[in-house]
Amino acid sequence: MPTQAAGIIGTGRALPERVLTNAELEKLVDTSDDWIVSRTGIRERRVAAPDETTSHFAALAAQRALDAAGVSPRELDLVICATVCPDMMLPSTACLVQSKLGAKRAAAYDLVAACSGFVYGLATARAFIEAGHARYILVIGAELLSRFVDYTDRATCVIFGDGAGAAVVGPVAAGRGILAHRILSDGDYAELLYTPGGGARHPASAATVQQRLHYIKMRGNELFKVAVRSMAETVGQVLDELRLAPSDVDLFVPHQANQRITDAVADRLGIGSERIYANIERMGNTSSASIPIALDECVAAGRIKSGDLLVFASFGAGVTWGALALRW
Ligand code: ACO
Repeated sequence: MPTQAAGIIGTGRALPERVLTNAELEKLVDTSDDWIVSRTGIRERRVAAPDETTSHFAALAAQRALDAAGVSPRELDLVICATVCPDMMLPSTACLVQSKLGAKRAAAYDLVAACSGFVYGLATARAFIEAGHARYILVIGAELLSRFVDYTDRATCVIFGDGAGAAVVGPVAAGRGILAHRILSDGDYAELLYTPGGGARHPASAATVQQRLHYIKMRGNELFKVAVRSMAETVGQVLDELRLAPSDVDLFVPHQANQRITDAVADRLGIGSERIYANIERMGNTSSASIPIALDECVAAGRIKSGDLLVFASFGAGVTWGALALRW
């Protein structure tokens, strides 16, 4: 037993106003509402306005999570911003958020684990708090994927959306909060989902822009298979560690990558749809933001009771994946 258990004590979300529908995408690329809905479950996604930034939504979601937790920004020891859509290459988006919040005592850094960023961030916060190195930590997942998606590539532009979600992680009673987690990665699969341009390998130049290297490239079909296998296995391992079974899970909140991925994982685990939260129809895939947005929607809808066992599962570029179980 850790000396100090760590749990989620407040959540928040922030979304752009603008809704991008499948019908609008039909006008941009050779696709159809039917194809998108049947292959992904997505009907619409949010897209930020040109003057909005990742740090803007991250700070809004964070402030709402702090308000819900009753924690002031000055009490924060650490701000972790999971994102693959930073405002700039340098400095971190977490530092911009720390400044917007006035979290003057907090260290701040970005965490790059793509869609697994929120689960990775919770695992990190848990370790800090259980070890006694921090009391309150903000874990944010924030993405403006619309800035990195190629709206001439039908394989990716129909999937991704923008938004941010946040959680304040803090001390909770023994037996509550984060009970177990497992985070993993396999860089052999790095090129299944990547953005080749703009880094040290292909620094930004007229040629990289012309070759569209600053946009996300994805081999969706291969990712799909690895995602289903990894997520199902890892959830099983986390439940085994706790000597619990899928039937003990009150609410399963997976990364919203594709409805078919969620269905396949749930099917392998034997978790019925009544115990799974899905909002991909309205949000698309918001990468690291998807779990905290979904979680905050569940909290707002009164879908979670004190004592419920929640399980998160994620999979993303890297590739990275993980699962985490917590007692609410
Ligand atoms: N509209 C119409 N047709 C399309 C579209 C589209 N938007 N996109 C692809 N197609 C076509 C393909 O060109 C292909 O045509 P072909 O058979 O003539 O070559 C056909 O549809 C089938 O393509 P697949 O890629 O095999 O389709 P699949 O059923 O695998 O669905 C999808 C594609 C939706 C991308 C799916 O593979 C998927 O969701 N994969 C996981 C993606 C994902 O979750 N990525 C993110 C995970 S990590 C993270 O969240 C960052």
